[in-house]
Amino acid sequence: MTIKRIAVITAGGDCQGLNAVVRAVTKHALKNGMEVFGFKNGFDGLVRNEYMPLDDCAVSGILTRGGTILGTSNIANPFDYTLAPLGTPQEPRNVSNLVMENVKKNRIDALIAVGGDGTLSMASRFLDMGLPIVGVPKTIDNDLSATDFTFGFDSALAVATDAVDRIHTTAESHHRVMIIETMGRYAGWIALRSCLAGGGDICLIPEIPYSDEAIAKAIISRREKGKNFSIIVAAEGAVNERGEMSVQKTIAGSTDPIRLGGISGRIAAMLEEKVGLECRVVVLGHLQRGGTPTAFDRWLSTRFGAEAVELILKGETGNMVALRGGDIISVPIKDAVAKLKRVDPNGQEVRSALAVGTSFGSSRIG
Ligand code: F6P
Repeated sequence: MTIKRIAVITAGGDCQGLNAVVRAVTKHALKNGMEVFGFKNGFDGLVRNEYMPLDDCAVSGILTRGGTILGTSNIANPFDYTLAPLGTPQEPRNVSNLVMENVKKNRIDALIAVGGDGTLSMASRFLDMGLPIVGVPKTIDNDLSATDFTFGFDSALAVATDAVDRIHTTAESHHRVMIIETMGRYAGWIALRSCLAGGGDICLIPEIPYSDEAIAKAIISRREKGKNFSIIVAAEGAVNERGEMSVQKTIAGSTDPIRLGGISGRIAAMLEEKVGLECRVVVLGHLQRGGTPTAFDRWLSTRFGAEAVELILKGETGNMVALRGGDIISVPIKDAVAKLKRVDPNGQEVRSALAVGTSFGSSRIG
C-alpha cells in the first residue's frame, strides 16, 4: 500500500527532544512524498479532531527547542476519557471509536505515537483495533526495558548533575545537609547517575529501600571523618524499608494515577530531629524536563524520528523504534511495554557507587 498521509502525536509528560522527533518525522516523510498531520495534545487531538498540517516551515528552528509544538496531555486516555468539550471533568467513558473515526475521516494511513509506557500501552490497544501505529519511546525516567535509552533522560540527567555540582559549594560553606529530590517515578536512574556523576554522598532510589537509621548513621559517620556537610540525592519514588513511598496525591483517570513527591522534606525533618543537623531541600521537579535538549538527546530524537518513518515505509507498523548499542532497531510495541527497566540493586552501577563511598541509606546494602 502506498502511504500518502501520516499523523504524529506527542503524548504523556513532555521532555526535551520531542520537537526534534517531530522535525525528523516531518522532514523524512515529506522527502518521501507523504503529507504529515500533527494532532494536538496527544490522543486528545485525535478524539477532538484537532490537528495542524506539518510542512518544512512548521518544523523549522525547533530542533533545539524544549517542550512540544504539538502540545501534550497525560490525562487524555481515549479508553477512559474524562475530559468534556470545555475541559470540565466528567464520568469516564470509552471514546476510542472517535479516534478511529477521525483517522478514517482524515485518510491517515499510519500514526506515529511518541510517548512513554502509558502512551505506548494505549497505542497497543489501538493496534488491536486495526490502527497502524509506530511507537517512539520518550521519558526522562529511562524506564522502558526495550531500549538502551529514551530521549529526554540525558537532558534531565544533565540538569540533576548540575544541581548536585552547584549544591556542593553552599553545603560546604554552611556545613549543612542538602537534599536534592529528583524525578524518575518508580526507577532510580536520574538519582543514581546524577549522584555518581556529581559525587553525592547518599543516594535514595526506589530499587533499594532505605531506613531512617541507616541514613542518619551515614551522615554521622561522615562527620566523624571530618566531613561537615553531606549531599543526599533522593529519587521521588524512593521507598523505605516498610515499603512506604512519598505520595503527594492520587489522580483518578490519569495514565499516571500517583503524583509522587515530598521525600526530601520528610528526610530533612527526620534528620533535623534525629541528628540535630541543619537540612535544606531542593526539589528539582519539572526543571528536569525543560529547556534545550543535550546533543545526545537531539541525536537520539532525530534518529528515532527518521527511523519511525522508515518503519512505516517498510510496512512494519506495530513496532517501536529502540536504541541498541549504537543502532536503531525495532521491537514490537507490545513487548516494549511489558516490563519496566529499573536499577539492579546488585548490579555493577550500584557497586561502582558503593566503591566510591556512596551510601544507599540501607541497612541491607553497603
Ligand atoms: O514520567 C515523567 C515524569 O516527569 C516523572 O518523572 C514524574 O513522576 C511525572 O512525570 C510527573 O508528572 P506531571 O508532569 O504530571 O507532574
